[in-house]
Amino acid sequence: MDKKIGIIKGSLRKNSFSQSIADYVVEHSPEGCIFEVIDISKLPLYNQDYDDANPQEYIAFREEIKSLDGVLFITPEHNRSLPAALKNALDVGSRPYGESVWNGKPGAIISQSPGAIGGFGATHHLRQVLAFLNVLTLAQPEAYIGAYHTLIDETGTLKNPDTQAFIDGFLSAFTDWVEKIS
Ligand SMILES: Cc1cc2nc3c(=O)[nH]c(=O)nc-3n(C[C@H](O)[C@H](O)[C@H](O)COP(=O)(O)O)c2cc1C
Repeated sequence: MDKKIGIIKGSLRKNSFSQSIADYVVEHSPEGCIFEVIDISKLPLYNQDYDDANPQEYIAFREEIKSLDGVLFITPEHNRSLPAALKNALDVGSRPYGESVWNGKPGAIISQSPGAIGGFGATHHLRQVLAFLNVLTLAQPEAYIGAYHTLIDETGTLKNPDTQAFIDGFLSAFTDWVEKIS
């Protein structure tokens, strides 16, 4: 059976660069894997009071994550860290205490930026959180994609052949990793 891999984007923006990478990934999934974007935009901001009366969005999101064989995070950097929407999704999935849906999932990170260092700070803050949540995050290759605005065409589609080849190699390593862990 195909492995089901969720894509969680750190951006809620229309025409997002993260969505552009997600589109490429969905279209170029390695054989035996299906990648699909998980929507985190409707999750209310986490509040521990909800542990007693969970919003429907939390219940559905946790069930969706549980059903996955792996998670690929594609994110911009916000103020040298991961975006708040992404941290919120991680917090929602981590609770109630002892029932985290992240535990033991294989994961990987792609960060992107128009800047030169490709969201390095976002990746490493995210890695810190994922280590605590016991998401088994692919160590190598790392994926920091800089100057992303120069790699796309006017519709926002990834067109740069070197970047496409890099992402193909990254996906191959990640899906091997998912296979190894499962
Ligand atoms: C609040 C905010 C903070 C940002 N901070 C950084 C930053 O620290 N480093 C960086 O390279 N880009 C930073 N940026 C630029 C975004 O990361 C950049 O536009 C990103 O590629 C957009 O990704 P998206 O299209 O997927 O939303 C920031 C953007 C916003 C809105």
